[in-house]
Amino acid sequence: MKRPEWLDNKNIRPYVFARKANRPAQPGIAYPFDWFHDLDPLVMEPLAMKEVDFSNQIMILDQIAFDANGLLTPRWVFYDCAVMPGFITGFAARTSSLDVEVKKRLKVNENLEWTPLSLFIVIPTPETGRWMAHNLGSMNAFVDKKHKLSGLGFLSKAFALWYGNIRELYGVAQWNSPALKLHANYGPLEIVTAYTPIHDYANSITYRVWIDTLYWEHFLDEAKDNSQFLNKFQESGLIVEPNNNQNLIDIQTRIEAEEGPYYINPEEILKNPVGSALKLYIKK
Ligand SMILES: CC(C)(COP(=O)(O)OP(=O)(O)OC[C@H]1O[C@@H](n2cnc3c(N)ncnc32)[C@H](O)[C@@H]1OP(=O)(O)O)[C@@H](O)C(=O)NCCC(=O)NCCS
Repeated sequence: MKRPEWLDNKNIRPYVFARKANRPAQPGIAYPFDWFHDLDPLVMEPLAMKEVDFSNQIMILDQIAFDANGLLTPRWVFYDCAVMPGFITGFAARTSSLDVEVKKRLKVNENLEWTPLSLFIVIPTPETGRWMAHNLGSMNAFVDKKHKLSGLGFLSKAFALWYGNIRELYGVAQWNSPALKLHANYGPLEIVTAYTPIHDYANSITYRVWIDTLYWEHFLDEAKDNSQFLNKFQESGLIVEPNNNQNLIDIQTRIEAEEGPYYINPEEILKNPVGSALKLYIKK
């Protein structure tokens, strides 16, 4: 995937929905990745009463994206656990420019000048420099193919990591979710938990990624090779089977016994069908 044309469409802009105190002093200074430098984000103050309609649209997007898997964000969780401690970003389109079908699907509010098309929520942890990815949703998951914006989900998360100068990121996903294809392509992904009974879905992976924009370039441009991963990691001889809970428990037992850390090859997960068995890697 090359730089998609929609990034240069003046009717589409990144948005930053963040309390002033939570906004980085110098957005985007940590990374050389230059796709976002020239974009002009819409910056909004979520606590201002006038922004509640935009907030409502983000919640609608969340509801449509997560309806199928039962992980809808309750409104108070959005406020207490996202707006207050973290920040929300994504891409928004000028409402008047949207196709009528998309407007219907997104249940747009015609009074809003801009409508969010994606969302990514990130919150800091008390560990210095480490953040937690709380939510990712993209309209691509539910609009007709002709209305999809190629790479919208991947670039929404990338924009937040770039904007916030985020170096290390935790996150959670289900092993058989297509979203893991994206999550494993922001830098080397270490498995923190392979089996997670404390979550609604025990077959969730908790991961930690050391953000490295060379990985983004590989994901966005298939022609680029994957050597940055294979130079540093080697096969462990173990595999993870996303649909085999006993296998996930076995890997988790090894992690708890500090036999890891184990990593996933970003290229393998991207190319294999969702839910395929994956090799586990260790540092060389
Ligand atoms: C997961 C999600 C955010 C991905 O966003 P998206 O905008 O669809 O993804 P992108 O366009 O950035 O995808 C980039 C690439 O990832 C891969 N990919 C994305 N979704 C995929 C899927 N369902 N199946 C297989 N590959 C997929 C493809 O290689 C795709 O490139 P392509 O479109 O050129 O084939 C979106 O599908 C979504 O909102 N899902 C519902 C909510 C959810 O599960 N969120 C994740 C919580 S952890």
